[in-house]
Amino acid sequence: MPAASSFVTVHEAAKILGVSPDTVKRYAKKGLIKSARNAENHRLFRREELERLADKSKNQAKWRVLKRPAKAGKTGLTAIELFSGCGGMALGFQNAGIESKLLVELDKRACATLRENWPKKEIHEGDVSLVDFKSYHKKIDIVAGGFPCQAFSYAGKSRGFEDTRGTLFFEFARCLQEVRPKIAVGENVRGLFKHDGGRTLETMLNTLREIGYIPEVRVMRAQFLDVPQKRERLIILAVRQDLVGKVPHLFPKERDYTVSLGAALKDVPKSEGTTYSDKKRAIMDQVPEGGYWRSLPDEIQREYMGASYFLGGGKTGMARRLSREEPCLTLTCSPCQKQTERCHPLETRPLTTREYARVQTFPDDWKFSGKVTATYKQIGNAVPVNLAYHLGTCLIAMLDPSERTQEMEEPVKEEVEESQLALSL
Ligand SMILES: C[S@@+](CC[C@H](N)C(=O)[O-])C[C@H]1O[C@@H](n2cnc3c(N)ncnc32)[C@H](O)[C@@H]1O
Repeated sequence: MPAASSFVTVHEAAKILGVSPDTVKRYAKKGLIKSARNAENHRLFRREELERLADKSKNQAKWRVLKRPAKAGKTGLTAIELFSGCGGMALGFQNAGIESKLLVELDKRACATLRENWPKKEIHEGDVSLVDFKSYHKKIDIVAGGFPCQAFSYAGKSRGFEDTRGTLFFEFARCLQEVRPKIAVGENVRGLFKHDGGRTLETMLNTLREIGYIPEVRVMRAQFLDVPQKRERLIILAVRQDLVGKVPHLFPKERDYTVSLGAALKDVPKSEGTTYSDKKRAIMDQVPEGGYWRSLPDEIQREYMGASYFLGGGKTGMARRLSREEPCLTLTCSPCQKQTERCHPLETRPLTTREYARVQTFPDDWKFSGKVTATYKQIGNAVPVNLAYHLGTCLIAMLDPSERTQEMEEPVKEEVEESQLALSL
């Protein structure tokens, strides 16, 4: 932990960020800023991080899809992508210079999307547990996968490979054993830190060590990595044991700017989207840009919220109209779920599918297969393309020192510990 003098209280933090103390607490709860408690159980925030955040939010950048410049040449690096969905992670990696040689995905619509955009790639549609990866042994540099989070049943106290059998993480680990890539990348939600009291993540890390990979974990905040969205992903980066010492773990440094939703929606092509019922539209019409259910007259609040009106918590996602000034709130599988409303800032309607794609930094020419609901689901499930691009540039630099830049860094132990602390609040 750094010296106590670099920490400030909730009220001081609110002043630095120019928001209310309640908003600061909400940010901390969501993990957007880190906090810890002192011996008197007071919540403390790190001054440097707050100042950095206040500065960054002032610096606005344009929306763009990042790509390795042609003059940088090919990297020759290859990957296998498990649980590839509609290709957010794979496309970001490709834009960075890593070519997917095999993509594995169960959902037929997500596979149709992949085939439509990448007709020449090998796409395996089906259950990963039925795929034999042995023919790729030592032929692939990177194996990546966003395995869904599942609880493990513990046999004795081992908390390793055998305990994970029957889960999708086990299939990820089995793929590593069969392929033996130089680097493994696991991707998940931030909540994995506290899933089953931390035992799930601990078991995953033990399993990776047991099969010969040295892991590091870090939370990546998309809003500081060229993505107009406050989404976070937990990334496990593991290096094959025989390469440790030669191949450092590198993560992208957060940038000093953000991309606003307003910038992301500029000149967005027209596309399909869901609509509100007349009743819902009449309610949402009364919510100003950036507002939520608390902006409504009290009697409408009571009617709209029902039993939730009397429950605790901010419920700031309910009847939410987005703001053009900030990165968008995290997208989910639908833009009009009651707890996570994503209403357009100026028009009274949910974001369209192409607006969704912009927020996840998919290029406008990336086609999505399936009906509107299936499209929202594919996009909402994806890793933001630009976040994957930044991670991809680090993977390349891990294997090639000439690709290393000042915008990459090795993980600092303390940050992970603080993230865990913040989650225990
Ligand atoms: C969170 S999404 C991954 C998103 C993807 N990484 C991206 O960036 O677009 C998880 C995916 O795992 C797929 N999946 C779930 N179970 C599977 C299985 N048994 N075999 C293969 N894929 C599976 C789901 O269909 C879903 O698309």
